[in-house]
Amino acid sequence: MDKVSKGIDWETFHKLRGSKKRTYFTRDGNIFHVIMSQQFDRAFLDDICELATKIRGISKGNKGVAFLQSLLQGKRAMLYFVQPSTRTFLSFMAACQILGIQCSEVRDTTTSSEMKGESQEDTVRTFSSYVDLIVMRHPQTGFAERIAFLLNQISRPVPIINAGSGKDQHPTQALLDIYTLHRSFENYGGIDGKKIALVGDLLRGRTVRSLVYLLRNYEGIRFYFVAPPELQMGDDLKEYLRKQKVPFEESDTLEEVVPLVDAVYMTRIQDEYDEQGESKEIDYTKYYFKEKYLKVLPPNAIIMHPLPRRDEIPVKIDADKRAMYWRQARNGMWVRVTLIAKIFQKDKDIREY
Ligand code: CP
Repeated sequence: MDKVSKGIDWETFHKLRGSKKRTYFTRDGNIFHVIMSQQFDRAFLDDICELATKIRGISKGNKGVAFLQSLLQGKRAMLYFVQPSTRTFLSFMAACQILGIQCSEVRDTTTSSEMKGESQEDTVRTFSSYVDLIVMRHPQTGFAERIAFLLNQISRPVPIINAGSGKDQHPTQALLDIYTLHRSFENYGGIDGKKIALVGDLLRGRTVRSLVYLLRNYEGIRFYFVAPPELQMGDDLKEYLRKQKVPFEESDTLEEVVPLVDAVYMTRIQDEYDEQGESKEIDYTKYYFKEKYLKVLPPNAIIMHPLPRRDEIPVKIDADKRAMYWRQARNGMWVRVTLIAKIFQKDKDIREY
C-alpha cells in the first residue's frame, strides 16, 4: 500500500530510515518521486539497466526516435536548478526532448518571486500548477525530500526528481554510475563481487554517498575509501555499511589501492562547501590518478568520475580504454530517459516496441 504523507508530520517523516520512506515515493506500486538512493532495490536497478539498453537501441532508427517522442507528448517539465550544473541539467533536458516533453527552466532565484520574499516551498508548489514533472537541483540537503513530502499532501501532486541536494544525495548520478558499471562488467561477471575504490572528498561528495547506497544491493561488494583524513566518508555511511555487513577499508594512499580494484571512482574536492577556506590546507594531489597508475590498474578495471574534473585525472588518460567518465556522461541521458519513462509508466510500451 502506498503512503502519501497524510497523517504523518514532517519531523516524524524526516527521521524515518531511507528504506521506510520508500513507500511515500511511490503511487500504486510504481515509482513517483526520485529522492534518495535508499528507495531503490536490486530488481529496480536491473530493470533500469535493461530498459536503458532497450531505449538506446530504439533510438538508433528514425522510426524509433518518433516512437520515443510520441510517448509523453503534451507533458511539461520544470528544470529548477539553483546550483550550477552542466551534465545533469543538459541530460535531463535532452531526456525530456527524447520523450516529447516540453521543458521550462529556472536556474537563478533572482529571476523568480523568491526575490519578493516568496518561500521556496511556495515557489515549487507554483511550478506544480503548470507542469507534470519537477526536476530540481538545490544546495540544501533534504530540500527535494521536503518538497516531495509537501506535494504528497496537495490535490494535484507532480513527481519530484532530485538532481542533486547539497552534500547529501545525487540519486540519478548514482543510477547512471550503476548503468556504466553494468555495461562495463557485462562480460566479466556483472557488478556482484567487484572491488570499488571511491577517491577524494568523500565527506562532502553527494555522488559517492548515493552510489554507496545503491551498491549495497549487489552481492560481495568491497569498498576502498581513499581520502584525506579530514574528508573521509561520513560516519553515517560507515555505520550503514557495518549494519548491512558490506566490508570497507579506509586508506589515504591511492597508489596502493589501484592494483587491487575493479573500479576507481575519482572525485574533485568540493570546496564550494568550505566554511573558511579549510580545503586549501589539504594536499589533494595525493588523490590524483597519475598516469603511471595505468600500468598497475588491472586490464579489465575501469576509471570513473562524475565530472566536472579539475586535475584529478590528466586529460591524457581519456584515451585509455578503461577511462569511462565520458561514457558516464552519455549514459546519464539514457538513464534519465528510462527513469522518466518509468515514472509515467511508459516502460511497458517501450518493452513491447
Ligand atoms: N555529475 C554532475 O552532476 O555534473 P553537473 O554538476 O555538471 O551536473
